[in-house]
Amino acid sequence: MENPVILETKNITKDFPGVRALDSVSFQLKKGEVLGLVGENGAGKSTLMKIFSGAYPANTYDGEISIEGKRCIFNSPKDSQKAGIAIIYQELNLIPELTVAENIFLAREPTVGKTGVIDRKKLFIQTKDLLDRINIPISSQEQIKNLSIGKQQMVEIAKALSYNAKILILDEPTSALTEQEVEVLLKMIDSLRARGVSMIYISHKLDEIFKITDSVTVMRDGKTVSSRRTPELGRQEMVALMVGRNIEDMYPKKEAGISDVILEVRGLFVDHPFLAGEKVVKDVSFKVRRGEIVGISGLMGSGRSELVTSIFGAFPAHSSGEIYIGGKRVKISCPHEAINYGLGLVTEDRKLFGLVLGMEVGENITLSCLEKLSWHQIIIRRREGELVNKYMSALRVKARSSETVVNTLSGGNQQKVVIAKWLATNPKVLLLDEPTRGVDVAAKAEIYQLMTNLAGEGIGIVMVSSDLPEVVSMSDRILIMHEGSMVKELQKNEATQEKIMFYATGGK
Ligand SMILES: Nc1ncnc2c1ncn2[C@@H]1O[C@H](COP(=O)(O)OP(=O)(O)OP(=O)(O)O)[C@@H](O)[C@H]1O
Ligand SMILES: [Mg+2]
Repeated sequence: MENPVILETKNITKDFPGVRALDSVSFQLKKGEVLGLVGENGAGKSTLMKIFSGAYPANTYDGEISIEGKRCIFNSPKDSQKAGIAIIYQELNLIPELTVAENIFLAREPTVGKTGVIDRKKLFIQTKDLLDRINIPISSQEQIKNLSIGKQQMVEIAKALSYNAKILILDEPTSALTEQEVEVLLKMIDSLRARGVSMIYISHKLDEIFKITDSVTVMRDGKTVSSRRTPELGRQEMVALMVGRNIEDMYPKKEAGISDVILEVRGLFVDHPFLAGEKVVKDVSFKVRRGEIVGISGLMGSGRSELVTSIFGAFPAHSSGEIYIGGKRVKISCPHEAINYGLGLVTEDRKLFGLVLGMEVGENITLSCLEKLSWHQIIIRRREGELVNKYMSALRVKARSSETVVNTLSGGNQQKVVIAKWLATNPKVLLLDEPTRGVDVAAKAEIYQLMTNLAGEGIGIVMVSSDLPEVVSMSDRILIMHEGSMVKELQKNEATQEKIMFYATGGK
Protein backbone atom coordinates (compact mmCIF):
# COMPACT_ATOMS: atom_id res chain seq x y z
CA MET A 1 0.00 0.00 0.00
CA GLU A 2 1.30 3.45 -0.89
CA ASN A 3 1.79 5.84 1.97
CA PRO A 4 -0.28 9.04 1.87
CA VAL A 5 1.41 12.24 0.73
CA ILE A 6 2.51 14.47 3.60
CA LEU A 7 4.20 17.36 1.81
CA GLU A 8 3.44 18.53 -1.70
CA THR A 9 4.20 21.48 -3.95
CA LYS A 10 2.58 22.67 -7.13
CA ASN A 11 4.39 24.77 -9.71
CA ILE A 12 6.88 26.49 -7.48
CA THR A 13 8.89 29.08 -9.38
CA LYS A 14 11.54 31.21 -7.73
CA ASP A 15 13.73 33.81 -9.38
CA PHE A 16 16.85 35.54 -8.18
CA PRO A 17 18.20 38.49 -10.13
CA GLY A 18 19.15 36.93 -13.45
CA VAL A 19 18.63 33.33 -12.31
CA ARG A 20 15.54 31.14 -12.32
CA ALA A 21 16.46 28.90 -9.37
CA LEU A 22 13.20 26.92 -9.42
CA ASP A 23 11.12 26.42 -12.50
CA SER A 24 7.59 25.20 -11.85
CA VAL A 25 8.58 22.49 -9.39
CA SER A 26 6.05 19.89 -8.41
CA PHE A 27 7.27 17.71 -5.59
CA GLN A 28 5.80 15.05 -3.30
CA LEU A 29 7.00 13.55 -0.05
CA LYS A 30 5.15 10.55 1.39
CA LYS A 31 4.49 9.93 5.04
CA GLY A 32 7.23 8.01 6.81
CA GLU A 33 9.52 7.82 3.81
CA VAL A 34 13.08 8.99 3.37
CA LEU A 35 13.26 10.78 0.06
CA GLY A 36 16.65 11.36 -1.49
CA LEU A 37 16.94 14.65 -3.36
CA VAL A 38 19.83 14.72 -5.80
CA GLY A 39 21.07 16.98 -8.57
CA GLU A 40 24.08 18.93 -9.77
CA ASN A 41 25.46 21.94 -7.90
CA GLY A 42 23.06 24.79 -8.50
CA ALA A 43 20.14 22.54 -9.51
CA GLY A 44 17.89 24.23 -6.94
CA LYS A 45 17.77 21.70 -4.10
CA SER A 46 18.65 24.07 -1.26
CA THR A 47 16.41 26.78 -2.64
CA LEU A 48 13.41 24.42 -2.58
CA MET A 49 14.28 23.42 0.99
CA LYS A 50 14.50 27.07 2.03
CA ILE A 51 11.00 27.54 0.71
CA PHE A 52 9.86 24.62 2.87
CA SER A 53 11.64 26.04 5.89
CA GLY A 54 10.07 29.47 5.55
CA ALA A 55 13.42 31.15 4.89
CA TYR A 56 11.88 32.72 1.78
CA PRO A 57 8.50 34.35 2.51
CA ALA A 58 5.54 33.26 0.39
CA ASN A 59 5.43 36.50 -1.60
CA THR A 60 8.93 35.92 -3.01
CA TYR A 61 7.94 32.96 -5.20
CA ASP A 62 5.00 31.54 -7.13
CA GLY A 63 3.27 28.25 -6.48
CA GLU A 64 1.69 26.32 -3.63
CA ILE A 65 2.77 24.20 -0.70
CA SER A 66 0.47 21.85 1.16
CA ILE A 67 0.90 19.56 4.13
CA GLU A 68 -1.46 16.60 4.47
CA GLY A 69 -3.62 18.13 1.80
CA LYS A 70 -3.95 21.50 3.52
CA ARG A 71 -2.57 24.60 1.82
CA CYS A 72 0.18 26.25 3.86
CA ILE A 73 1.63 29.71 3.65
CA PHE A 74 5.03 30.14 5.23
CA ASN A 75 6.21 33.66 5.81
CA SER A 76 8.91 32.86 8.34
CA PRO A 77 10.82 29.92 9.78
CA LYS A 78 8.41 30.01 12.73
CA ASP A 79 5.44 29.25 10.44
CA SER A 80 7.21 26.28 8.97
CA GLN A 81 8.31 25.00 12.37
CA LYS A 82 4.75 25.19 13.62
CA ALA A 83 3.66 23.11 10.66
CA GLY A 84 6.14 20.43 11.78
CA ILE A 85 9.07 21.05 9.47
CA ALA A 86 12.65 21.12 10.75
CA ILE A 87 15.69 21.71 8.61
CA ILE A 88 19.40 21.24 8.90
CA TYR A 89 21.08 23.62 6.54
CA GLN A 90 24.06 22.92 4.35
CA GLU A 91 26.00 25.74 6.00
CA LEU A 92 26.26 25.59 9.76
CA ASN A 93 24.25 28.17 11.68
CA LEU A 94 25.37 27.92 15.28
CA ILE A 95 26.66 30.73 17.46
CA PRO A 96 30.32 29.94 18.19
CA GLU A 97 30.54 31.75 21.52
CA LEU A 98 27.56 29.97 23.07
CA THR A 99 27.42 26.48 24.54
CA VAL A 100 25.82 23.46 22.92
CA ALA A 101 22.79 23.76 25.21
CA GLU A 102 22.34 27.48 24.59
CA ASN A 103 22.46 26.91 20.85
CA ILE A 104 19.95 24.08 20.88
CA PHE A 105 17.40 25.88 23.03
CA LEU A 106 18.13 29.40 21.85
CA ALA A 107 15.20 31.72 22.56
CA ARG A 108 13.23 28.92 24.23
CA GLU A 109 15.40 28.20 27.27
CA PRO A 110 13.69 26.91 30.40
CA THR A 111 13.21 29.69 32.96
CA VAL A 112 13.01 29.80 36.72
CA GLY A 113 9.29 30.01 37.49
CA LYS A 114 7.80 33.01 35.75
CA THR A 115 10.83 35.26 36.37
CA GLY A 116 12.16 35.06 32.83
CA VAL A 117 15.58 34.19 34.22
CA ILE A 118 17.15 31.26 32.40
CA ASP A 119 17.31 28.11 34.49
CA ARG A 120 20.80 27.07 33.44
CA LYS A 121 20.81 23.87 35.45
CA LYS A 122 17.62 22.71 33.80
CA LEU A 123 18.89 23.84 30.41
CA PHE A 124 21.97 21.66 30.66
CA ILE A 125 20.07 18.65 32.01
CA GLN A 126 17.46 18.94 29.30
CA THR A 127 20.20 19.11 26.66
CA LYS A 128 22.08 16.18 28.11
CA ASP A 129 18.87 14.11 27.97
CA LEU A 130 18.35 15.01 24.35
CA LEU A 131 21.97 14.25 23.37
CA ASP A 132 21.92 10.95 25.27
CA ARG A 133 18.65 9.92 23.69
CA ILE A 134 20.06 10.29 20.20
CA ASN A 135 23.50 9.03 21.15
CA ILE A 136 25.52 12.16 20.52
CA PRO A 137 28.70 12.11 22.63
CA ILE A 138 29.14 15.84 23.20
CA SER A 139 29.00 17.79 26.44
CA SER A 140 26.01 20.14 26.68
CA GLN A 141 28.32 22.73 28.27
CA GLU A 142 30.96 22.81 25.56
CA GLN A 143 31.28 26.01 23.56
CA ILE A 144 30.49 25.53 19.87
CA LYS A 145 33.76 27.14 18.78
CA ASN A 146 35.67 24.34 20.47
CA LEU A 147 33.92 21.66 18.43
CA SER A 148 35.04 20.36 15.06
CA ILE A 149 32.78 20.98 12.09
CA GLY A 150 31.54 17.39 12.31
CA LYS A 151 30.50 17.77 15.92
CA GLN A 152 28.85 21.10 15.19
CA GLN A 153 26.83 19.34 12.52
CA MET A 154 25.67 16.84 15.13
CA VAL A 155 24.54 19.68 17.38
CA GLU A 156 22.51 21.04 14.47
CA ILE A 157 20.84 17.67 14.10
CA ALA A 158 20.08 17.50 17.81
CA LYS A 159 18.59 20.98 17.59
CA ALA A 160 16.32 20.04 14.71
CA LEU A 161 15.17 16.89 16.46
CA SER A 162 14.42 18.80 19.64
CA TYR A 163 11.43 20.35 17.88
CA ASN A 164 9.72 16.95 17.46
CA ALA A 165 9.37 17.60 13.78
CA LYS A 166 7.22 15.35 11.58
CA ILE A 167 9.15 16.39 8.48
CA LEU A 168 12.91 16.59 8.79
CA ILE A 169 15.01 18.08 6.01
CA LEU A 170 18.71 17.25 5.91
CA ASP A 171 20.67 19.31 3.39
CA GLU A 172 24.00 17.51 2.96
CA PRO A 173 24.15 16.45 6.61
CA THR A 174 27.15 14.18 6.22
CA SER A 175 29.47 16.35 4.22
CA ALA A 176 31.69 16.91 7.26
CA LEU A 177 31.20 13.58 8.98
CA THR A 178 33.49 10.57 8.92
CA GLU A 179 32.34 7.09 7.93
CA GLN A 180 31.59 6.14 11.51
CA GLU A 181 29.64 9.28 12.23
CA VAL A 182 27.73 8.78 9.02
CA GLU A 183 26.80 5.32 10.30
CA VAL A 184 25.54 6.89 13.53
CA LEU A 185 23.47 9.38 11.56
CA LEU A 186 22.04 6.75 9.23
CA LYS A 187 20.98 4.67 12.24
CA MET A 188 19.36 7.78 13.69
CA ILE A 189 17.47 8.28 10.45
CA ASP A 190 16.31 4.67 10.48
CA SER A 191 14.90 5.01 13.95
CA LEU A 192 13.19 8.29 13.08
CA ARG A 193 11.65 6.64 10.05
CA ALA A 194 10.39 3.84 12.28
CA ARG A 195 8.75 6.51 14.42
CA GLY A 196 6.94 7.86 11.37
CA VAL A 197 9.06 10.95 10.68
CA SER A 198 9.23 11.82 6.98
CA MET A 199 12.58 13.02 5.70
CA ILE A 200 14.15 14.72 2.75
CA TYR A 201 17.79 13.77 2.44
CA ILE A 202 20.05 15.77 0.15
CA SER A 203 23.48 14.39 -0.59
CA HIS A 204 26.10 14.19 -3.30
CA LYS A 205 27.24 10.89 -1.82
CA LEU A 206 25.25 8.48 -3.89
CA ASP A 207 26.18 5.48 -1.73
CA GLU A 208 24.26 7.09 1.11
CA ILE A 209 21.31 7.79 -1.14
CA PHE A 210 21.13 4.12 -2.10
CA LYS A 211 21.61 2.95 1.45
CA ILE A 212 19.10 5.11 3.27
CA THR A 213 16.36 6.35 0.95
CA ASP A 214 13.06 4.80 -0.08
CA SER A 215 12.62 7.01 -3.11
CA VAL A 216 14.69 9.46 -5.12
CA THR A 217 13.75 12.73 -6.77
CA VAL A 218 16.23 14.17 -9.25
CA MET A 219 16.47 17.90 -9.94
CA ARG A 220 18.13 19.50 -12.92
CA ASP A 221 18.23 23.20 -13.84
CA GLY A 222 15.52 24.15 -11.37
CA LYS A 223 13.13 21.36 -12.31
CA THR A 224 12.26 17.97 -10.88
CA VAL A 225 13.07 15.59 -13.71
CA SER A 226 12.36 12.21 -12.15
CA SER A 227 10.84 10.59 -9.06
CA ARG A 228 11.35 6.87 -8.54
CA ARG A 229 11.51 4.15 -5.91
CA THR A 230 15.18 3.80 -4.99
CA PRO A 231 15.48 0.05 -5.70
CA GLU A 232 14.25 0.63 -9.24
CA LEU A 233 17.00 3.11 -10.01
CA GLY A 234 20.53 2.20 -11.07
CA ARG A 235 23.53 4.34 -10.24
CA GLN A 236 24.49 5.10 -13.84
CA GLU A 237 20.93 6.06 -14.59
CA MET A 238 20.72 8.34 -11.57
CA VAL A 239 23.91 10.13 -12.56
CA ALA A 240 22.71 10.48 -16.14
CA LEU A 241 19.43 12.00 -14.92
CA MET A 242 21.37 14.46 -12.76
CA VAL A 243 23.91 15.66 -15.25
CA GLY A 244 22.16 14.93 -18.52
CA ARG A 245 24.99 12.71 -19.77
CA ASN A 246 27.01 9.63 -18.79
CA ILE A 247 30.23 9.93 -16.80
CA GLU A 248 32.59 7.34 -18.18
CA ASP A 249 35.63 7.72 -16.00
CA MET A 250 35.01 8.95 -12.48
CA TYR A 251 38.63 8.56 -11.31
CA PRO A 252 40.98 9.43 -14.16
CA LYS A 253 44.12 8.79 -12.11
CA LYS A 254 47.23 8.18 -14.15
CA GLU A 255 50.78 7.52 -13.04
CA ALA A 256 52.57 10.82 -13.30
CA GLY A 257 56.33 10.86 -13.55
CA ILE A 258 57.00 11.07 -9.83
CA SER A 259 60.39 12.72 -9.30
CA ASP A 260 62.28 14.59 -6.57
CA VAL A 261 60.97 15.57 -3.16
CA ILE A 262 59.23 18.94 -3.28
CA LEU A 263 57.85 19.11 0.27
CA GLU A 264 59.26 17.55 3.38
CA VAL A 265 57.87 17.85 6.88
CA ARG A 266 59.96 16.74 9.85
CA GLY A 267 58.81 16.35 13.42
CA LEU A 268 55.75 18.55 13.23
CA PHE A 269 53.79 19.20 16.41
CA VAL A 270 50.67 21.35 16.74
CA ASP A 271 49.20 22.46 20.07
CA HIS A 272 45.66 21.60 21.02
CA PRO A 273 43.53 24.75 20.55
CA PHE A 274 42.23 24.83 24.11
CA LEU A 275 43.80 22.05 26.20
CA ALA A 276 47.12 23.36 27.48
CA GLY A 277 49.97 20.89 27.04
CA GLU A 278 48.01 18.64 24.66
CA LYS A 279 48.96 18.24 21.00
CA VAL A 280 46.64 17.62 18.06
CA VAL A 281 49.54 16.76 15.73
CA LYS A 282 52.30 14.66 17.25
CA ASP A 283 55.71 14.34 15.66
CA VAL A 284 54.55 13.94 12.07
CA SER A 285 57.10 13.53 9.29
CA PHE A 286 56.50 12.83 5.62
CA LYS A 287 57.66 13.66 2.10
CA VAL A 288 55.80 14.60 -1.05
CA ARG A 289 57.41 14.27 -4.48
CA ARG A 290 56.76 16.20 -7.64
CA GLY A 291 53.95 14.58 -9.57
CA GLU A 292 52.73 12.67 -6.55
CA ILE A 293 49.30 12.67 -4.94
CA VAL A 294 49.59 11.80 -1.26
CA GLY A 295 46.29 11.00 0.44
CA ILE A 296 45.86 11.64 4.16
CA SER A 297 43.20 9.60 5.87
CA GLY A 298 42.00 9.49 9.42
CA LEU A 299 38.94 10.04 11.51
CA MET A 300 37.62 13.48 12.25
CA GLY A 301 39.73 14.95 15.03
CA SER A 302 42.76 12.85 14.11
CA GLY A 303 44.71 16.01 13.31
CA ARG A 304 44.58 15.84 9.50
CA SER A 305 43.23 19.35 8.97
CA GLU A 306 45.49 20.85 11.63
CA LEU A 307 48.45 19.18 9.91
CA VAL A 308 47.86 20.85 6.55
CA THR A 309 46.74 24.19 7.94
CA SER A 310 49.83 24.38 10.14
CA ILE A 311 52.11 23.62 7.18
CA PHE A 312 50.39 26.58 5.55
CA GLY A 313 51.49 28.82 8.42
CA ALA A 314 48.14 29.16 10.13
CA PHE A 315 49.35 28.64 13.71
CA PRO A 316 52.99 29.79 13.85
CA ALA A 317 52.95 30.29 17.61
CA HIS A 318 51.39 26.91 18.25
CA SER A 319 53.36 24.57 16.05
CA SER A 320 56.92 23.36 15.80
CA GLY A 321 58.89 21.24 13.38
CA GLU A 322 60.82 21.65 10.16
CA ILE A 323 59.51 22.26 6.68
CA TYR A 324 61.60 21.92 3.51
CA ILE A 325 60.48 23.05 0.09
CA GLY A 326 62.55 21.81 -2.81
CA GLY A 327 65.20 20.72 -0.30
CA LYS A 328 65.51 24.14 1.35
CA ARG A 329 64.50 24.69 4.95
CA VAL A 330 61.81 27.36 5.16
CA LYS A 331 60.17 29.12 8.02
CA ILE A 332 56.51 29.83 7.27
CA SER A 333 54.99 32.18 9.75
CA CYS A 334 51.79 33.15 7.96
CA PRO A 335 49.65 32.03 5.01
CA HIS A 336 50.99 34.90 2.90
CA GLU A 337 54.52 33.52 3.22
CA ALA A 338 53.23 30.05 2.41
CA ILE A 339 51.81 31.38 -0.84
CA ASN A 340 55.15 33.02 -1.67
CA TYR A 341 56.90 29.68 -1.12
CA GLY A 342 54.55 28.10 -3.63
CA LEU A 343 52.01 26.47 -1.35
CA GLY A 344 48.26 26.52 -1.92
CA LEU A 345 45.58 25.38 0.51
CA VAL A 346 42.02 24.42 -0.28
CA THR A 347 40.32 24.25 3.10
CA GLU A 348 37.50 22.35 4.60
CA ASP A 349 35.90 25.42 6.05
CA ARG A 350 35.42 27.71 3.10
CA LYS A 351 33.87 30.45 5.16
CA LEU A 352 36.91 30.71 7.39
CA PHE A 353 39.94 30.54 5.10
CA GLY A 354 38.57 29.92 1.67
CA LEU A 355 36.47 32.75 0.37
CA VAL A 356 35.49 36.32 0.87
CA LEU A 357 31.79 35.71 0.59
CA GLY A 358 30.82 39.30 -0.05
CA MET A 359 33.19 39.60 -3.02
CA GLU A 360 32.70 38.62 -6.63
CA VAL A 361 33.66 35.25 -8.05
CA GLY A 362 36.40 36.78 -10.18
CA GLU A 363 37.88 38.79 -7.33
CA ASN A 364 38.03 35.68 -5.18
CA ILE A 365 39.81 33.68 -7.85
CA THR A 366 42.52 36.31 -8.33
CA LEU A 367 42.81 37.28 -4.67
CA SER A 368 45.82 35.10 -3.95
CA CYS A 369 47.71 35.79 -7.13
CA LEU A 370 47.37 39.54 -7.46
CA GLU A 371 51.13 39.99 -7.24
CA LYS A 372 51.61 37.89 -10.31
CA LEU A 373 49.03 39.84 -12.23
CA SER A 374 50.10 43.25 -11.07
CA TRP A 375 52.57 45.39 -12.86
CA HIS A 376 53.70 48.40 -10.89
CA GLN A 377 50.69 47.92 -8.63
CA ILE A 378 48.30 47.98 -11.53
CA ILE A 379 46.37 44.82 -11.99
CA ILE A 380 46.31 43.99 -15.61
CA ARG A 381 42.59 43.63 -16.13
CA ARG A 382 42.76 41.66 -19.31
CA ARG A 383 45.01 39.00 -17.81
CA GLU A 384 42.80 38.83 -14.78
CA GLY A 385 39.78 38.26 -16.98
CA GLU A 386 41.50 35.52 -18.97
CA LEU A 387 42.56 33.72 -15.85
CA VAL A 388 39.13 33.91 -14.28
CA ASN A 389 37.42 32.67 -17.41
CA LYS A 390 39.87 29.83 -17.79
CA TYR A 391 39.19 28.43 -14.33
CA MET A 392 35.48 29.15 -14.29
CA SER A 393 35.03 27.11 -17.42
CA ALA A 394 37.53 24.39 -16.46
CA LEU A 395 35.57 23.75 -13.27
CA ARG A 396 32.19 24.58 -14.77
CA VAL A 397 31.39 27.14 -12.05
CA LYS A 398 27.69 27.85 -12.35
CA ALA A 399 27.45 31.61 -11.95
CA ARG A 400 25.83 34.22 -14.13
CA SER A 401 29.18 35.95 -14.60
CA SER A 402 32.52 36.47 -12.90
CA GLU A 403 30.92 39.48 -11.24
CA THR A 404 28.40 37.40 -9.33
CA VAL A 405 28.86 37.73 -5.57
CA VAL A 406 30.10 34.45 -4.11
CA ASN A 407 27.54 34.06 -1.35
CA THR A 408 24.74 33.82 -3.90
CA LEU A 409 26.26 30.67 -5.42
CA SER A 410 25.13 27.19 -4.43
CA GLY A 411 27.34 25.40 -1.89
CA GLY A 412 29.12 23.21 -4.39
CA ASN A 413 29.84 26.09 -6.71
CA GLN A 414 31.44 28.03 -3.84
CA GLN A 415 33.76 25.06 -3.34
CA LYS A 416 34.70 25.17 -7.02
CA VAL A 417 35.64 28.84 -6.64
CA VAL A 418 37.95 27.97 -3.72
CA ILE A 419 39.72 25.43 -5.88
CA ALA A 420 39.96 27.82 -8.81
CA LYS A 421 41.46 30.43 -6.52
CA TRP A 422 44.35 28.18 -5.54
CA LEU A 423 44.93 26.77 -8.99
CA ALA A 424 45.34 30.34 -10.18
CA THR A 425 48.33 30.85 -7.85
CA ASN A 426 50.27 28.23 -9.80
CA PRO A 427 51.44 26.40 -6.70
CA LYS A 428 54.34 23.94 -6.41
CA VAL A 429 52.50 22.08 -3.70
CA LEU A 430 48.76 22.02 -3.33
CA LEU A 431 47.31 21.09 0.04
CA LEU A 432 43.71 19.98 -0.37
CA ASP A 433 41.50 19.52 2.66
CA GLU A 434 38.33 17.69 1.64
CA PRO A 435 38.46 19.16 -1.86
CA THR A 436 35.26 17.59 -3.16
CA ARG A 437 33.09 18.10 -0.13
CA GLY A 438 29.65 19.14 -1.32
CA VAL A 439 30.63 18.91 -4.97
CA ASP A 440 28.39 17.06 -7.44
CA VAL A 441 29.49 13.91 -9.28
CA ALA A 442 30.23 15.65 -12.55
CA ALA A 443 32.34 18.36 -10.92
CA LYS A 444 34.09 15.74 -8.78
CA ALA A 445 35.19 13.94 -11.90
CA GLU A 446 36.42 17.31 -13.23
CA ILE A 447 38.36 18.07 -10.05
CA TYR A 448 39.98 14.63 -10.20
CA GLN A 449 40.95 15.26 -13.80
CA LEU A 450 42.47 18.60 -12.81
CA MET A 451 44.42 16.98 -9.98
CA THR A 452 45.74 14.39 -12.39
CA ASN A 453 46.78 17.10 -14.83
CA LEU A 454 48.48 19.13 -12.09
CA ALA A 455 50.40 16.09 -10.89
CA GLY A 456 51.36 15.51 -14.51
CA GLU A 457 52.81 19.02 -14.58
CA GLY A 458 55.02 18.16 -11.60
CA ILE A 459 52.99 19.65 -8.76
CA GLY A 460 53.00 17.76 -5.48
CA ILE A 461 49.54 17.25 -4.04
CA VAL A 462 48.51 16.45 -0.48
CA MET A 463 44.87 15.49 -0.21
CA VAL A 464 43.11 15.14 3.12
CA SER A 465 39.89 13.27 2.55
CA SER A 466 37.22 11.30 4.37
CA ASP A 467 35.88 10.02 1.09
CA LEU A 468 37.46 6.57 1.05
CA PRO A 469 36.78 5.68 -2.60
CA GLU A 470 38.36 9.02 -3.53
CA VAL A 471 41.46 8.43 -1.38
CA VAL A 472 41.92 4.89 -2.65
CA SER A 473 41.41 5.81 -6.29
CA MET A 474 43.33 9.08 -6.47
CA SER A 475 46.36 8.66 -4.20
CA ASP A 476 49.77 7.29 -5.09
CA ARG A 477 50.41 6.78 -1.42
CA ILE A 478 48.16 7.02 1.62
CA LEU A 479 49.21 8.22 5.06
CA ILE A 480 46.88 7.37 7.91
CA MET A 481 46.55 9.45 11.05
CA HIS A 482 45.21 8.37 14.40
CA GLU A 483 44.96 10.67 17.41
CA GLY A 484 47.51 13.12 16.03
CA SER A 485 50.12 10.60 14.96
CA MET A 486 50.93 9.20 11.56
CA VAL A 487 50.36 5.51 12.17
CA LYS A 488 50.62 3.88 8.77
CA GLU A 489 51.67 4.38 5.20
CA LEU A 490 50.01 2.36 2.43
CA GLN A 491 51.14 2.18 -1.18
CA LYS A 492 48.53 2.54 -3.89
CA ASN A 493 48.51 -1.15 -4.77
CA GLU A 494 47.97 -2.32 -1.18
CA ALA A 495 45.36 0.23 -0.09
CA THR A 496 41.74 -0.75 0.44
CA GLN A 497 38.94 1.07 2.22
CA GLU A 498 38.86 -1.63 4.91
CA LYS A 499 42.60 -1.37 5.61
CA ILE A 500 42.39 2.40 5.89
CA MET A 501 39.51 2.23 8.37
CA PHE A 502 41.37 -0.44 10.35
CA TYR A 503 44.38 1.82 10.96
CA ALA A 504 42.35 5.03 11.23
CA THR A 505 40.38 3.55 14.12
CA GLY A 506 43.52 2.59 16.00
CA GLY A 507 44.08 -0.96 14.68
CA LYS A 508 47.63 -2.33 14.82
N1 LIG B 1 20.50 34.25 -2.48
C1 LIG B 1 20.69 34.03 -3.77
N2 LIG B 1 20.87 35.02 -4.65
C2 LIG B 1 21.06 34.79 -5.96
N3 LIG B 1 21.10 33.56 -6.51
C3 LIG B 1 20.92 32.51 -5.69
C4 LIG B 1 20.72 32.68 -4.28
N4 LIG B 1 20.58 31.45 -3.73
C5 LIG B 1 20.70 30.56 -4.74
N5 LIG B 1 20.91 31.18 -5.92
C6 LIG B 1 21.07 30.53 -7.23
O1 LIG B 1 20.01 29.61 -7.41
C7 LIG B 1 20.47 28.42 -8.05
C8 LIG B 1 20.13 27.22 -7.21
O2 LIG B 1 20.95 27.22 -6.06
P1 LIG B 1 20.79 26.14 -4.89
O3 LIG B 1 21.61 26.62 -3.76
O4 LIG B 1 19.36 25.86 -4.65
O5 LIG B 1 21.48 24.85 -5.57
P2 LIG B 1 21.73 23.39 -4.96
O6 LIG B 1 21.00 22.42 -5.80
O7 LIG B 1 21.43 23.37 -3.51
O8 LIG B 1 23.29 23.19 -5.23
P3 LIG B 1 24.48 22.54 -4.32
O9 LIG B 1 24.47 21.07 -4.63
O10 LIG B 1 25.72 23.15 -4.85
O11 LIG B 1 24.23 22.84 -2.90
C9 LIG B 1 21.96 28.64 -8.29
O12 LIG B 1 22.14 29.09 -9.60
C10 LIG B 1 22.33 29.69 -7.29
O13 LIG B 1 23.45 30.44 -7.71
MG1 LIG C 1 22.61 23.19 -1.82
